[in-house]
Amino acid sequence: MAKFRVGIIGCGNIFPMHAVSIQQSGLAEVVAICDIKEDRVRRWADVYHCAAYTDYQEMIDKADLDVVHICTPHYLHAPMVIYAANAGKHVMTEKPMSISIEEAEQMIEACEKNKVTFGVIFQNRYNPGSLLIKEALDKFELGHILGGKCSVTWKRTDEYYSKSDWKGTWDMEGGGVLIDQAIHTMDLIRWFMGQDIEYVEAQIGNRAHEIIQVEDSAEGVIKYKNGVFTGFYAINYYSYDAPVEIELHCEHAIAKMVGDKATITYNDGFSVTRDSDPNESVDFGDGVKSYWGVSHVKQIKEFYQNVTDGVTPAIDGKEAFKTQKMIASIYKSGKENKRIYL
Ligand SMILES: NC(=O)c1ccc[n+]([C@@H]2O[C@H](COP(=O)([O-])OP(=O)(O)OC[C@H]3O[C@@H](n4cnc5c(N)ncnc54)[C@H](O)[C@@H]3O)[C@@H](O)[C@H]2O)c1
Repeated sequence: MAKFRVGIIGCGNIFPMHAVSIQQSGLAEVVAICDIKEDRVRRWADVYHCAAYTDYQEMIDKADLDVVHICTPHYLHAPMVIYAANAGKHVMTEKPMSISIEEAEQMIEACEKNKVTFGVIFQNRYNPGSLLIKEALDKFELGHILGGKCSVTWKRTDEYYSKSDWKGTWDMEGGGVLIDQAIHTMDLIRWFMGQDIEYVEAQIGNRAHEIIQVEDSAEGVIKYKNGVFTGFYAINYYSYDAPVEIELHCEHAIAKMVGDKATITYNDGFSVTRDSDPNESVDFGDGVKSYWGVSHVKQIKEFYQNVTDGVTPAIDGKEAFKTQKMIASIYKSGKENKRIYL
């Protein structure tokens, strides 16, 4: 069977994870790439021996693509997904799917109308530790979840923001620590919960940065429709990227993630642990850390298998929308200082 012809929009930090994952899937190949920064697109076009574009619409119109990957600033995800879908291309976008609920709805609608497959990257769901906990919950080995909490305390300095022309702004990044760094953890705990949300109540603020508009701190609660509360705390003014922590207090056990390592400790003291496999790594070439991309490879390979089989991806637009709506509601709660019912 011929390989899917893929175009990637955006040749910045995350580009190599997508390019390598597409090639490694065995089902697809990168045939065109696009970036408004010509030096970037030329450099990577030489590496991948593919066509180079500086206008994404031209690439979608002319490069005879089956699939488009979107690796651009957050505010561009919606217009790019919708343009690709309307051209009949399957699409895979980086997180977050959009910067507003309305845009997210339009993206889902465009993909449904054009009968194209729509995937959204939340690669941490594919980490071995995440799967240990999710599978145990699904088999009801832990009983009901009684409560949960998570924290993300990372370091993103003013200097980090000064190097980006879109981060730190509401109109282009769509928020700060929550929508960019903590979204993976917020998605994981929501996915573990597997319940609809009743309401969110949160506070957000910029407490330690000089040059950004968006929040560097967010704290709050999510109440699910089954009555369970999960609390969250996210800052990106910490002095280093501390391991992310998630804890679920369940009837029969406590399930905990610290970084990628998951431990389930049952009430009788028996415990089981699963961490990332140090033997699993991906070579992205110069300057790109190898352990980073392993779960991108897994999610993207599964996406191409799904497109081949005509199956809806596990993280399609509708699934990602649940996390998007949660994040947007937290922002609304923080900005308007009130409880937001979903
Ligand atoms: N899943 C993860 O763990 C992870 C990690 C890092 C980044 N990301 C996501 O990947 C996306 C990109 O982030 P990044 O860090 O690579 O950003 P980046 O700023 O390094 O790269 C974005 C690229 O998009 C290009 N671009 C901007 N406007 C364009 C346009 N109109 N047409 C074509 N190209 C355009 C820029 O020139 C730049 O090269 C974001 O959604 C981010 O949240 C995800």
